[in-house]
Amino acid sequence: MILGIETSCDETAAAVLAPGPAVLSSIIASQIDLHARTGGVVPEVAARQHIAQINAVISEAVHTAGITLQGLTAIAVANRPGLLGALLIGVSAAKALSYSLDIPLIGVHHIEAHIYANWLASPDLAFPLVALVASGGHTEIFLMRAHGSFDVLGRTRDDAAGEAFDKSARLLGLPYPGGALIDNLAREGDPNRLHFPRARLGAEGFDFSFSGLKTAVRLAKQDQNNSEISLEDWAASVQEAIVEPLVEKTVAAALRCAVKTVLLAGGVAANSRLRYCLTSECSRHGLALIAPSLSLCTDNAAMVATAGYYRLALGHTDTLDLDTHSSEHLA
Ligand code: KG4
Ligand code: ZN
Repeated sequence: MILGIETSCDETAAAVLAPGPAVLSSIIASQIDLHARTGGVVPEVAARQHIAQINAVISEAVHTAGITLQGLTAIAVANRPGLLGALLIGVSAAKALSYSLDIPLIGVHHIEAHIYANWLASPDLAFPLVALVASGGHTEIFLMRAHGSFDVLGRTRDDAAGEAFDKSARLLGLPYPGGALIDNLAREGDPNRLHFPRARLGAEGFDFSFSGLKTAVRLAKQDQNNSEISLEDWAASVQEAIVEPLVEKTVAAALRCAVKTVLLAGGVAANSRLRYCLTSECSRHGLALIAPSLSLCTDNAAMVATAGYYRLALGHTDTLDLDTHSSEHLA
């Protein structure tokens, strides 16, 4: 029975995982409404909200799982990367529980947790495989040869894919976080109505660059010739400029590494166009695409508990001096 805790950004989350692994409970207290007022996450505001929520969220996760704290056998917590003040709240709670219950503490990398969300629906995934992680803070392609083994094949050189969605959404007058709103609007829009540049950074590599997109969107918004274009068409065109390089590079990386399976993970993995295009490109090349259910794409603690479950199986545990890190790469 592993308790997972996630407080790296703007969700206070706790979950209980039974062997299998099977999720017994997954509680998420979102701060999105709080941060929509400022158009983005203010770190100190996030940390204070985590303090207010953490004990209640943990209690509810344990209660919903039908156990007591004494029924827990390990604590997994996202300790890197993220907002330091926010991470410290989850890590402090995890240490207190680990110490008082005398059970193992497992520090989990937030991106590793996103990837491990896939093992909940598919516990028998075979290695090697290629994983695309696209979230609000990260966009990376990894080769996994075994549990806990990550080789980075490519990553963004500037903005993350989710950041590109959110910043473009802001320029289109949409509230924070705009990724899911763009996804919804784009369903009724024409992805070829406007053409935004795609930074390909050379055909051989697997790195991304999304920072030019927001400038392109801002300039296009200022162009009077575009004033009649519908919000749906803007959304679909922006979305296409983000999705296309993600799909292209991920499939190319999978083919280069000769794997049979591609994993999708991170908040942007909830994007319907990305799921659709990656599924069809993978099947065209004989690759299987695995993606978490929508609720497991964005930040949650079930994914942290799952990553902890596999770390524990490898014998990886931490001591009470476990640290927090704001920007550590997984590989
Ligand atoms: O993984 P996540 O919950 O938090 C981080 O670790 O960053 O990802 C949040 C990001 C935000 O940028 C949000 O706009 C984006 O994921 N996102 C989406 C969708 N749902 C969430 N982007 C595009 N389409 C979606 N449906
Ligand atoms: Zn995340």
